[in-house]
Amino acid sequence: MLVVGRPRLVRNSIILTLAILSIWHLGLLSRTPTSASALVSASVSASSEWSRLERLMNRGAPLTPYPDSNSSFDWSAIPFRYPPHNTTHLPPRHKQPPLPRIQHRFGPESPAAAKERIKRLKAVKQVFLRAWQAYKGYAWKQDALLPISGGGREQFSGWAATLVDALDTLWIMGLREEFDEAVAAVAEIDFGSSTSSRVNIFETNIRYLGGLLAAYDLSGREVLLKKAVELGDLIYAGFNTENGMPVDFLNFYSAKSGEGLVVESSVVSASPGTLSLELAHLSQVTGDDKYYSAVSQVMDVFYQGQNKTRLPGVWPIDVNMRAKDVVSGSRFTLGGCADSLYEYLPKMHQLLGGGEPKYETMSRTFLQAADRHFVFRPMLPGAEEDVLMPGNVNVDEDSGEAVLDPETEHLACFVGGMFGLAGRLFSRPDDVETGVRLTNGCVYAYRAFPTGMMPERLDLAPCRDRSSRCPWDEEHWLEERAKRPEWEPHLPRGFTSAKDPRYLLRPEAIESVFYSYRITGRQEFQTAAWDMFTAVEKGTRTQFANAAVLDVTRAADELPQEDYMESFWLAETLKYFYLMFTTPDIISLDDYVLNTEAHPFKLVG
Ligand SMILES: *[C@@H]1O[C@H](CO)[C@@H](O)[C@H](O)[C@H]1NC(C)=O
Ligand SMILES: *[C@@H]1O[C@H](CO)[C@@H](O)[C@H](O)[C@H]1NC(C)=O
Ligand SMILES: *[C@@H]1O[C@H](CO)[C@@H](O)[C@H](O)[C@H]1NC(C)=O
Repeated sequence: MLVVGRPRLVRNSIILTLAILSIWHLGLLSRTPTSASALVSASVSASSEWSRLERLMNRGAPLTPYPDSNSSFDWSAIPFRYPPHNTTHLPPRHKQPPLPRIQHRFGPESPAAAKERIKRLKAVKQVFLRAWQAYKGYAWKQDALLPISGGGREQFSGWAATLVDALDTLWIMGLREEFDEAVAAVAEIDFGSSTSSRVNIFETNIRYLGGLLAAYDLSGREVLLKKAVELGDLIYAGFNTENGMPVDFLNFYSAKSGEGLVVESSVVSASPGTLSLELAHLSQVTGDDKYYSAVSQVMDVFYQGQNKTRLPGVWPIDVNMRAKDVVSGSRFTLGGCADSLYEYLPKMHQLLGGGEPKYETMSRTFLQAADRHFVFRPMLPGAEEDVLMPGNVNVDEDSGEAVLDPETEHLACFVGGMFGLAGRLFSRPDDVETGVRLTNGCVYAYRAFPTGMMPERLDLAPCRDRSSRCPWDEEHWLEERAKRPEWEPHLPRGFTSAKDPRYLLRPEAIESVFYSYRITGRQEFQTAAWDMFTAVEKGTRTQFANAAVLDVTRAADELPQEDYMESFWLAETLKYFYLMFTTPDIISLDDYVLNTEAHPFKLVG
């Protein structure tokens, strides 16, 4: 995200459920076998689990018919001044050897544990449903809900961002009626007009195209694919540039003319670097290679520049796609503005089944540099806290020295999950452990503040050495604190600032908790998730839904809030909380790869 983680009978029935589910995952089943459902209803907790799974598995006809309307403009018919085709780039088609297993092999669950888990699952669903109903009542078909005043606002071209972003969560939660109603609304979206003359390609790609593709993968509704193609052709129009690099913002009117667009000279690296997964998957589901081909040219620029930057292995925050320069800058981060460029390297490897070796090369090279230069251990009052955090790095333009800035932010919390996933994909167990320690860093930051939420941006005092013990050193702490004008006496010891004390309903911490849980199977992550969920729900709750919090560093009965609910609250944050308490076969990381907006794409082959 660029914007500014039994008794024997029950056990057997669950195993049977899992078996059926995996058949469904192979696409062999379209209907629930009655014999199986009869067997499973033998137990109460398993049967409620089952009815949910049953709804999930039933890809039957929509409950309401959808209108057959096309957008008012056909983006596929533009005469390109600069056709971006490079037919040397085709999605890999040859069968590859299977990738290593990602998820932990979970054992049977005790009835008490199942009961507790399902209780939590329902609590998350209630919070989602409440916010969804508020969206429906006050902001239907608008981009975002105003959760305090009860209104709506357009943010991303006015194509119902919250609705499209939430489609797959509705499906995963088994909310079929709501899902079908939302899909009927999607059928009427007009990608031929926009409330803004400048279309943000990055956000359009991750929220809208990602949302449509995932909802299509899960439900098989053809209208979602049709809309995904309309929108994919709009994004593709952004490649109508002299050097084939995509624009960051698409001028709606000149894009339609096909006269050719001018690539911006300075953009943040995440923008061009976060188109690959969605466009590659669009090529996979349509069989039309043009999307994959276009985005491959962008990723080639990153590939060729990776070892030539001031910090080889990573790319600077600011890049110039007009000059195809991704090497010159001297500021580096794993957090906002760069984040999903890195996140998509191992995910592209997984999506393509390992069929394009560049993504493995880029991933391995990146992971090594990230581990070496960015990951630090913070000095904390409980010296036994063995956690890690991702910081920022600045390279001195004269000496070439790389200097760690131990500032971190909520956006960077996805790094734990990425290390875990990549560690599994490339069989690097040390990276999995690093991922767990990074995840625990963010969990620690949630627990350290009196509201149970982590601030948007903060500073820490780094240990002198990451691997050995790191006892509390009062003098070192005072020195680090003195460097930070933002330090305030009420902050928990260990933190040297809470530069931006807000919590914006962001998902990255629970995203990494989700990956760490599915990968290691460790129960502590479910506990952490529940603590985070209860704190977040309490602090963000409004009369209608949930809102961003302005200061999480001070406890209060009513926290100061901002009248805004980002679409990712429903698309990502609540989806990850929910998936913490489903059985682990639901959206298994061995069957799906999730885009940076938590939209699951079905792995093919
Ligand atoms: C929508 O467009 C497709 C071709 O792009 C066409 O076959 C279909 O008839 C159109 N539907 C309507 C309602 O115009
Ligand atoms: C097409 O891609 C190939 C492979 O990366 C590259 O060698 C070639 O220069 C590209 N052609 C054009 C016209 O960009
Ligand atoms: C970059 O360097 C790594 C070794 O650190 C190497 O494995 C990789 O192939 C290099 N990438 C390119 C594009 O040459």
